[in-house]
Amino acid sequence: MTNEKMIIEIKEWLKEAADYIRVNLTNELDVSQKSGRTDLVTNIDEETQLFLIKKINQHYPNDRILAEEKGFNSLDSLNGRVWIIDPIDGTMNFVMEHENFCIMIAVYQDGVGQLGFIYDVMKDELYWGEKDHGVFQNDRRLPQPKDAALSEGLIGMNAYMYRKNIYSAGEIGHASMGIRVSGCAGVELIAILKGNHIGYISNLSPWDYAAGLVLINEFGFSYSNIEGNPLAFDKREYFIAATPKAYTEMQEKFIHK
Ligand code: IPD
Ligand code: CA
Ligand code: CA
Ligand code: CA
Repeated sequence: MTNEKMIIEIKEWLKEAADYIRVNLTNELDVSQKSGRTDLVTNIDEETQLFLIKKINQHYPNDRILAEEKGFNSLDSLNGRVWIIDPIDGTMNFVMEHENFCIMIAVYQDGVGQLGFIYDVMKDELYWGEKDHGVFQNDRRLPQPKDAALSEGLIGMNAYMYRKNIYSAGEIGHASMGIRVSGCAGVELIAILKGNHIGYISNLSPWDYAAGLVLINEFGFSYSNIEGNPLAFDKREYFIAATPKAYTEMQEKFIHK
């Protein structure tokens, strides 16, 4: 591993943040709406983000940070070393289910993903990896998933896209073995890494996909915005990631039909 020290530090911060979340989950949450009644943020999202930012500032004061909450949600470029953080991915699940949410951290160097961490807090499962060094679930190296076709597997999907058949999401769902809607981008990307799902279609911001891309890249999965162009990292956009076989099939047969 090239960034061994940084990896050890990030794992420690994630464990500490997760312990804090688990303890505070049983207390009354301070929940507020952002853009509407289904777009929530809690005191724990903000406190977790603040905790991680403080750690980064202490250890890596020259690095820049892109993070979902409170004034950190835009950067003019990805030049230099940039940390991309989603303090709680799946806030709705966090509030309503008390599970199926993740902490996500990515480290990019001049726009290239170097480290990715997706931590499923309640399962205590950390999916992580470094560019060119493979993907791990806690201490176990994950095997390369099969390059399965669309008809051979389940696909994770954004419910609204499926319902409105946006970019033929409905038809894609019908051509697969079935759709799954978890409400958490991290959980969906983990399902691809484990070979449980063949792909994921959604509408995402950079902190939703930054860590996951580092990891799915290790297995040679295909990903882009839904039109097939590189992801912009500076806005919310329709997102697709899949096995190479399923990706090509979705683009050719459904999205650009
Ligand atoms: C959301 C979740 C959800 C996805 C949304 C994201 P948040 O992240 O990942 O699954 O459909 O697009 O914004 O706001 O809970 O961190
Ligand atoms: Ca959010
Ligand atoms: Ca998110
Ligand atoms: Ca979030």
